[in-house]
Amino acid sequence: MSLLPNLNTCKVAIIGLGYVGLPIAVEIDKTLICYKTGKKLSRKIIGFDINKERIDELNMGFDRTNEVSRDDLLKGNNISFSNIESQITTYDVYIITVPTPIDEFNNPNLKPIKIASKLIGKTLKIRKENSLIKNLPIVIFESTVYPGLTQEICIPIIESEMLGKVNKDFLCGYSPERINPGDKGKAIGDIVKITSGMDEKTSIWIDSFYASFIKAGTHQAKSIKIAETAKVIENTQRDLNIALINELAIICRKLNIDTLDVLEAANTKWNFLDFKPGLVGGHCIGVDPYYLTHRSTLAGYTPGVVLAGRRINNYMADWIIEELISVMTSDGFTLSESKFLILGLTFKENCPDMRNSGVLKLIKKIQSYGISIVVVDPLIKKTDKNLPKEIDFYDQIPDDQKFDAIIAAVAHDQFKILNLEFLKKLIVSKGKFVDIKGMLPRELNPIRL
Ligand SMILES: NC(=O)c1ccc[n+]([C@@H]2O[C@H](COP(=O)([O-])OP(=O)(O)OC[C@H]3O[C@@H](n4cnc5c(N)ncnc54)[C@H](O)[C@@H]3O)[C@@H](O)[C@H]2O)c1
Repeated sequence: MSLLPNLNTCKVAIIGLGYVGLPIAVEIDKTLICYKTGKKLSRKIIGFDINKERIDELNMGFDRTNEVSRDDLLKGNNISFSNIESQITTYDVYIITVPTPIDEFNNPNLKPIKIASKLIGKTLKIRKENSLIKNLPIVIFESTVYPGLTQEICIPIIESEMLGKVNKDFLCGYSPERINPGDKGKAIGDIVKITSGMDEKTSIWIDSFYASFIKAGTHQAKSIKIAETAKVIENTQRDLNIALINELAIICRKLNIDTLDVLEAANTKWNFLDFKPGLVGGHCIGVDPYYLTHRSTLAGYTPGVVLAGRRINNYMADWIIEELISVMTSDGFTLSESKFLILGLTFKENCPDMRNSGVLKLIKKIQSYGISIVVVDPLIKKTDKNLPKEIDFYDQIPDDQKFDAIIAAVAHDQFKILNLEFLKKLIVSKGKFVDIKGMLPRELNPIRL
């Protein structure tokens, strides 16, 4: 028998069922014919998560991230969900999709990925003791990490827990995820997947595995480190491009020029990159550059450009509010008696995720002036226990109130269709509009980035 698992019938465990892990689990389950070979696929999938509430919800057909349908969860081919460790010990492929956040000092917080590596090590030890399983398990990390983390941190943890060795007792690879939550036009299968492995045979197996269910195809990177670095530079490049345009927005405001009009003109050049100013939040673009700068600093080089971009993007929320407050103060508003309406709380449009949202920074800054805040977000439940303190929260715009300022912060589809008359009714005389995403009618004369 071959030491590698059978590509068509392998049993796959996904560890961490968030915005990344769940769609992958479902995509593998849904794909019954291999895109590469045309052969029939008959794979058993288990989604594992330490969050029991999440598992209970998935077992009832509810995905709180809005990425996967009820039917895909309840009428899957051969997929199950569990938070019980003993249920994952007989699988062939382990895909790790746990969070890789940063701490309060912007350093990588490796706790979740270290805990997950430990779990894999313990699991593989039990699996190894099962004399009925002959093939080698394959562990694939998908979490975003800094260059080298898989081999320097994760593999040693697995080896020590398993009492075994990579390439001998298990195989390992890395395949970064590029999913774009909330973007229904770019599903997981539409995005080319980078793959990599510790050695040639593992790389080829992992690449064929992803090519079997990712319609868009794969790119086999030359090493795990290359695949890891490719992921962090993708998001770092985005962060820096936005930072450049945010800096332009600050300059344009000083010079009384509309940034979006400038970008519209500049975009007519074939090689001008189409980036817009705005808040950078969430757990990818605002986080991944710090993974790169952390590893680089450890290696003796403190990046200049990357960290400068981070500083500008982190400053935008304060800058927007300072500009608004300066205009309102000149117009005679009494700030402590003012009330602001913020449209949108999530970190990006059409996605219910509010973790690390730039809007949270806006709220903090506004509250520092003693101003009351009403926040509306149709994608967040009023009962969400993570809602910021001391705000009035609604999932629909309260049209019986008037506001001194309205900040259009997140371009949810529901906000993009708000009309001029409706918005005018919500604002006091001389009240101000701030349009962070360029989505309000120009007739309102909003402060635009
Ligand atoms: N969200 C995105 O848009 C996106 C895109 C590309 C890559 N990524 C990367 O993918 C990884 C996962 O991100 P996400 O957005 O899916 O995170 P998430 O927070 O939405 O989900 C992570 C899940 O992992 C679970 N978990 C945590 N520790 C665990 C453990 N030890 N064992 C099992 N489950 C555990 C959590 O309960 C949670 O359900 C991160 O590294 C992230 O940077 C995210």
